[in-house]
Amino acid sequence: MTAGTYPKAGGSREDVLRENCDIVRDIIVEVERYAPAAIVLIVANPVDVATQVALSHSGFRKTRLISAGTLVDTMRLVRLVSDHVKIDPRSVSGYVVGEHGDGGLVPWSVFTICGMDVDTYCRLNNLEPLDKEMLRRQVVEAGHSVFSKKGYTNYGIGASISRIVRAIALDEKTVLPVGTLLEGEYGVDGAVMSLPCVIGRNGVEQIIQCDFSDAEVDQLKQSGNHIRQLWAMAEEEQAVIG
Ligand SMILES: NC(=O)c1ccc[n+]([C@@H]2O[C@H](COP(=O)([O-])OP(=O)(O)OC[C@H]3O[C@@H](n4cnc5c(N)ncnc54)[C@H](O)[C@@H]3O)[C@@H](O)[C@H]2O)c1
Repeated sequence: MTAGTYPKAGGSREDVLRENCDIVRDIIVEVERYAPAAIVLIVANPVDVATQVALSHSGFRKTRLISAGTLVDTMRLVRLVSDHVKIDPRSVSGYVVGEHGDGGLVPWSVFTICGMDVDTYCRLNNLEPLDKEMLRRQVVEAGHSVFSKKGYTNYGIGASISRIVRAIALDEKTVLPVGTLLEGEYGVDGAVMSLPCVIGRNGVEQIIQCDFSDAEVDQLKQSGNHIRQLWAMAEEEQAVIG
């Protein structure tokens, strides 16, 4: 579901919160009426909140109503790390989790290169250590940067949507970071956000439990609070209109 508008250049995805959530609310009802057995992938921004709105205004199960989430951010991050270590991105494994947006989090505790954490890999292979905060910033700002140059983004999100659809169509059981409704995982309850998930013919088939550090879990909880606040704003406006 890509219907929606863009924030103005320099603005944030949250600027279009109300407008896009209204659109999603209208459309999801029709999608459910005509295609109740569909698996719905939400792309319109702010994507996690839009997914939460769609879930709360339809009868779709959470496994079949998915936010494109942080897969696009993850692909960008893996590419940047792969450039640094000069290894094929397919040999580099890690995720951006949490919000697709400025609050996106990189849990370096589960990021590996050839089975080693990134610091160990760089040290043993005579490479400069990674500037982790700079990489995270580059990743979360990449969408804004592309948008400011060409007025839209398409290839990155297109590649990630196609990856999710392939995993579903071929029942791959591949682990991809997508947005799904959390119900207590990592202490987050009632917020759509991205975690590594098993994707197969039934949509999100499992949320992977990872050994995140305490600091990473705290950041996930903060993201959960932020998404819940935005969701409340989107629904509040609806209540006023109603
Ligand atoms: N999740 C991501 O990583 C990601 C990446 C790129 C774009 N996006 C988001 O996707 C959305 C669309 O981006 P785009 O580049 O395709 O924009 P676009 O302007 O090219 O297309 C949006 C489409 O939505 C349609 N639309 C608008 N209101 C509608 C309504 N009420 N009912 C039906 N259709 C309606 C428009 O007619 C248009 O065809 C934006 O919210 C953008 O921020 C998300």
